[in-house]
Amino acid sequence: MTFGFFDSGMGGLFMMESCIQIYPNHTYIYVGDTAHLPYGPRSTGKILSLMSPHLLWLFEEQQCDYVIIACNTAGVAATKDFIKLHPEYQSRIINIVDATLNYLHTLESCEMLVLATQGTINHGVYTSLPDHIVTGVAMPGLVDLIESGDVAGAEAMVYDALLYHPRIHTVLLACTHYAYLAQALQSAFPQYQFITQDVCLHKALEQLLQKTTSDETGSSTYYVSGDPSVYTERFGKDVIQRD
Ligand code: DGL
Repeated sequence: MTFGFFDSGMGGLFMMESCIQIYPNHTYIYVGDTAHLPYGPRSTGKILSLMSPHLLWLFEEQQCDYVIIACNTAGVAATKDFIKLHPEYQSRIINIVDATLNYLHTLESCEMLVLATQGTINHGVYTSLPDHIVTGVAMPGLVDLIESGDVAGAEAMVYDALLYHPRIHTVLLACTHYAYLAQALQSAFPQYQFITQDVCLHKALEQLLQKTTSDETGSSTYYVSGDPSVYTERFGKDVIQRD
C-alpha cells in the first residue's frame, strides 16, 4: 500500500514516522508545504489553493492508494471543498480531523483542553464534541516556534496555557506540530494525559489494513516545498524539493 502524508510542515512528518513504526511494510511519501507555513492564520480559499496541487500530485503522480491530510488546519478548512472538486478521491482521503473525532468518541467522557491553531479553533470542530466538555485554546505563533527549533519558547507557551486552566488534566494536542512537545510536557506535568494525534491515525490505518497483508519491505520519501536543507539537517533524511 502507498500512503501519502500532507501537512504544512513537520507535524505531518511526526505523524508519518509514527505510522511507519507501527506499519513498516508499506510505501510512505511525505509532502510538507514548508514554503507557505503556517497555515493557521490563512483563509480557507488560500489553504485550498495551496493544498490541492500537493494532494493531486500524491494521487496522480505518486500513485498513492490513500492520502492522509495530517494537518488539522487544512483538514477543517479545505478537505470538503477539495472533495467537492475531486469527488473521485473521496474514499481515498484520510482526514486527521475525522480520525481524531473517531478516536475521541472511544474515550470516557471527560473535561478536555484542546490546543490548536487559530484556524482550527475558529472552525469549532473540536470544541463542540458531544461526549466531552471542551475548552479550546488557540496558540498563534506556536507552529513557527516549533518549526524554527525554539523548543524552550514553544514549551513555555504551552505551559502558560496549561497553568491558565489548572483544573483540566486531559489535553488534546490538535495540531500535528504540537506532538513534538508531548514528551517534554508529559515529564513536566506527569499527572496529565496528553493526546497526540498519531494514535488516532494508528486506529484509522488499523481499520484500513485489517484485511490486507503486505510483503513489501517498506520505504519512505520526503518532499518539501521550501528549503529542503533545513529538514535534512534537522531530521537526518534526504529531503527533496518539490515546487
Ligand atoms: N500541523 C498543522 C495542523 O495540524 C499546522 C498548521 C499550520 O501550518 O499552522 O494544524
